[in-house]
Amino acid sequence: MAGTWFETVAVAQRRARRRLPASVYGALVAGSEKGLTSRDNVESFDELGFAPHVAGHHATRDLTTIVLGQSLSMPVLLSPTGVQAVHPAGEVAVARAAASRGVAMGLSSFASKSIEEVAATDARVYFQMYWSGGRDVMLQRLERAAAAGALGIIVTLDWSFSHGRDWGSPWIPEEITLKNALKLAPQALSRPSWLWSFVRSGHLPDLTTPNMAAPGEAAPTFFGAYYEWMQTPPPSWEDVAWLRAQWDGPFMVKGVSRVDDAKRVVDLGASALSVSNHGGNNLDGTPATIRVLPAIADAVGADIEVLLDGGVRRGSDVVKALALGARAVMIGRAYLWGLAVNGQAGVENVLDVLRGGIDSTLLALGRSSTSELTREDVVAPPDFFRTLGA
Ligand SMILES: Cc1cc2nc3c(=O)[nH]c(=O)nc-3n(C[C@H](O)[C@H](O)[C@H](O)COP(=O)(O)O)c2cc1C
Repeated sequence: MAGTWFETVAVAQRRARRRLPASVYGALVAGSEKGLTSRDNVESFDELGFAPHVAGHHATRDLTTIVLGQSLSMPVLLSPTGVQAVHPAGEVAVARAAASRGVAMGLSSFASKSIEEVAATDARVYFQMYWSGGRDVMLQRLERAAAAGALGIIVTLDWSFSHGRDWGSPWIPEEITLKNALKLAPQALSRPSWLWSFVRSGHLPDLTTPNMAAPGEAAPTFFGAYYEWMQTPPPSWEDVAWLRAQWDGPFMVKGVSRVDDAKRVVDLGASALSVSNHGGNNLDGTPATIRVLPAIADAVGADIEVLLDGGVRRGSDVVKALALGARAVMIGRAYLWGLAVNGQAGVENVLDVLRGGIDSTLLALGRSSTSELTREDVVAPPDFFRTLGA
């Protein structure tokens, strides 16, 4: 599509705001309660600076890395998100973009597309699960993911069912009935290009969660699946260790903020952890992930792959996270803005923006590869870092 290229993620976000109905845009911005954590995730990156060189730079830079046994073209993965009404092609477009740019993606269990449909692309896909439905149901979902070709499992453990937002949560219908469609019509009609993209695809957003369906049954609605999850007693560490034992392959625990939790994740035999606070959508007041990363990397970085997600909007943010101990980062909202603006090509555009930013930052820092980055490359103000639960 001509004229849709954007040069930064911030430009993509501005365009997404203009293109999406207010409730869809609001659901992506999210951030719980006062938005302290979601803001800190982004703004704490701004507090960090660099220590560049003026000569002795390298003519080419190597961005490749290996995460969970997969060779990636750069240290960026697409974090699992439920993207119900952002774009008709949804997670299939995300998967195609991941494949074309040589990175991997997580597919949310609350995604709008099934693991079978997404894994049928060329993408390398990790299936993300919450602790929902208890052990038997979890086992069924693991088996389904394995049969579909998922390369690994991401279990997200940081959700705390915090639903209030000071700026007012958008109204999201249980399903698109005629009555609900009429209620949403003013918003949708004010965003004709978004609406037209769905009309052309032959269906309106259906707000179902195919990956949460019981065998042989129809996909539950988003809220139906959410209700099952809310009714499930939260997992113990033994439950998490049990889950890990059921999966013979790469296994990531997502949502770690504390050093003691990171150690337990190592003990249960996970292959990776993501330092994450769910993009600030949970317990508001949790520090930015970049603040807690070095303490966790120092404690467990030799024993497990440490990733970070939360607030990454630029290639230079990726470099900061790598210099402070992450093996790779995962991005959420950044690629959702690209998806909203231009589908698969928009996600590719975001990945290209990040790649360019990582490369130019490496050049300035005089590094020939991401693996050469050290903490000396980054300048942090006093009292920037936090150590939780050491
Ligand atoms: C709209 C939205 C939906 C999300 N859905 C999920 C999900 O289903 N599963 C999950 O593990 N994380 C989910 N996340 C969290 C992301 O995977 C990731 O942790 C977060 O977006 C990273 O922060 P960032 O958006 O600042 O990059 C979601 C985030 C957003 C913004």
